[in-house]
Amino acid sequence: MEQVLIATRNAGKAAEFKQFFSRYQITALSMLDLEEELPDVEETGVTFEENAALKAEEISSKLGIPVLADDSGLMIDALYGEPGVFSARYAGTDKNDRANILKVLQKLQGVPESERTARFVCVIALSKPGEKTVFRTGYCEGNIAEEQSGENGFGYDPIFIPSDQKKTMAELTAEEKNRISHRTKAIEQFDEWIKGYKEGQA
Ligand code: IMP
Repeated sequence: MEQVLIATRNAGKAAEFKQFFSRYQITALSMLDLEEELPDVEETGVTFEENAALKAEEISSKLGIPVLADDSGLMIDALYGEPGVFSARYAGTDKNDRANILKVLQKLQGVPESERTARFVCVIALSKPGEKTVFRTGYCEGNIAEEQSGENGFGYDPIFIPSDQKKTMAELTAEEKNRISHRTKAIEQFDEWIKGYKEGQA
């Protein structure tokens, strides 16, 4: 595998993946590098695995090249795993981070700190034409704050306090977040897989 397409139009995510794959002399392209505009794959799955596989497999079979896709979200124990796969649209059909945060804080009103445990989850699917899709998962454990603070990051970062931290994810620098994030953990899980794959080819 010399090249892999990352199924994202998010420049930040694309850069993270490109940096990771460059360690293995694998060129990672993103949807932003393609001349052809591909239609969005609908995330109709009920699990992160299903959604990641839907994206990776559909684009891989269309283009005939290896494709990597991720799906992520926040799971809150006191809300039985919500917002989960619905993280982006928890408060309605438009992706509204502020409304999503307010919904979570309202639902957790009166829930004590010890019961506000949560985790970010990221599942990555790698699909190669004619081969079984490979999955890897990364987690970032933490707690939901009583109120939001911080300006960095996106999504639920202003209310997520990673374990062993006193600040919310939105108060960390990008480097600090990348060191502990669920996406980094999931990407790193591919380390052994890629080494094994390269050895198998040698
Ligand atoms: P996606 O699958 O990466 O597009 O993430 C889906 C949704 O999960 C986002 O719209 C956010 O609401 C939430 N989410 C995923 N990763 C993060 C993160 O690193 N910080 C905050 N929210 C996140």
